[in-house]
Amino acid sequence: MTETVEVLVNEEKVAERIEELGRQISEDYAGKQVHLICVLKGGVFFMCELAKRIRVPVSMDFMSVSSYGDGTASSGVVKIVKDLDETLENKDVLVVEDIVDSGRTLSYLLDVLKKRGPRSMRLCTLLDKPDRRVRNVKVDYTGFEIPDEFVVGYGLDYAQKYRNLPYIGVVKGVE
Ligand code: IMP
Ligand code: MG
Repeated sequence: MTETVEVLVNEEKVAERIEELGRQISEDYAGKQVHLICVLKGGVFFMCELAKRIRVPVSMDFMSVSSYGDGTASSGVVKIVKDLDETLENKDVLVVEDIVDSGRTLSYLLDVLKKRGPRSMRLCTLLDKPDRRVRNVKVDYTGFEIPDEFVVGYGLDYAQKYRNLPYIGVVKGVE
């Protein structure tokens, strides 16, 4: 069976929503500098687009995490594969994620980052699947709430493919 990708949120809608989020974040952080943290690799496309639409000073850092245990159900204990280059002390931190699913990864990660002394810390996610939540995670900015379907594109992958799609899609025809 051939694998195809059906569009869930098209390129124009994604761009419009990121523009709105950028405007909202610029208002909320007026007079401040926002320190964006990208969780690699999924968050990278979203963070770059978002950063371009924020009108207050921005700094950026990157980290990469992987969950322990098998890949499908994340255990919630994450290993930091690449840590941040800079300290979070006295920074207004905005963690930028591709998707919040069970919330296990982020609830662990946010706990770790909070201990590093940021002045404030908020979370911005492009996508949220609230039906799947098992850990309570406070999301401050959400691009789109989506149903419980496996999505790709805009940084999200299926077996490392499709991250480069400029829209959010659902993979069909997977055996
Ligand atoms: P959580 O710990 O269950 O919230 O896992 C979140 C991580 O799982 C995300 O950062 C993604 O890397 C991955 N993930 C969850 N849902 C999807 C999806 O629909 N498509 C692609 N990756 C996903
Ligand atoms: Mg991710």
